[in-house]
Amino acid sequence: MKKILLTFLFAVLSLQVFASSGAHLDKVDIDLSNQESLQNGAHLFVNYCLSCHSASYMRYNRMAEDIGLSEDELKKDFMFAGKKVGETMTVAMTADEAKTYFGTEVPDLSVISRARGADWLYTYLRTFYQDDSRPWGVNNATFKDVGMPHVLWELQGVKKALFETHEDHEGNEIKVISGYETVIPGKMSEEEYDNTIRDLVNFLVYMGEPAKLQRYDLGIKVLIFLAIFFVFAYALKKEYWKDIH
Ligand code: HEC
Repeated sequence: MKKILLTFLFAVLSLQVFASSGAHLDKVDIDLSNQESLQNGAHLFVNYCLSCHSASYMRYNRMAEDIGLSEDELKKDFMFAGKKVGETMTVAMTADEAKTYFGTEVPDLSVISRARGADWLYTYLRTFYQDDSRPWGVNNATFKDVGMPHVLWELQGVKKALFETHEDHEGNEIKVISGYETVIPGKMSEEEYDNTIRDLVNFLVYMGEPAKLQRYDLGIKVLIFLAIFFVFAYALKKEYWKDIH
């Protein structure tokens, strides 16, 4: 008994240590059935991300069908000239060029939501801050020394991080971010920017598993079928058993 209790205690404690060592992540409430949100997310993705990041598992026409866009809308607002609707979302930049420009590879974002999770992406895209020691003049509180510029700065504005000095477990001094201060205001309020990022993350999660939408859809149809079937089955049961009692 004592042994079990100890094991349990140890598990709880180690979980807590684990939890406190990671950066704080803000929770995001996404809704894969909200087509307006997915369309807004797709729009942002195409306009702000697809110039560097590919999504090579995603075909344009598949996306259009899943998130409720007509072929005309797709061609007009979501595709660059010369692309065909059956093609995947690739970028013109080669891996070598990316290395030259950014000093690192630019990852494909098709399944990034499965690797990182929605909360991580939501927090990451909201925690860029000014840092003149970095090549693009920005750093990120969620992905330290990231090689990506803050491509949405016009929407969010530019923030400066405020630091506090803490002592870690070994007594070393560490700097942690205690808050932010606006240096240049963005076109959006904080709430509007948060909602914009929520839509973008919604789209990234959809891309990570497009079949999920179809499963939801099928699930609802199955439930409707079962509900109707139940009415018939019940009527039939009544009919069969009516003379027996
Ligand atoms: C100017 C080019 C560029 C644009 C535009 C860009 N990124 Fe990036 N992004 C990068 C580079 C370079 C990295 C790799 C950074 C590193 O590893 O240090 C990166 C990394 C990332 C990562 C982290 C991937 C990982 O390793 O977990 C995510 C998530 C991401 N970008 C999302 C986005 C989203 C969403 C957009 C659109 C709003 C976007 N990026 C636009 C260049 C870009």
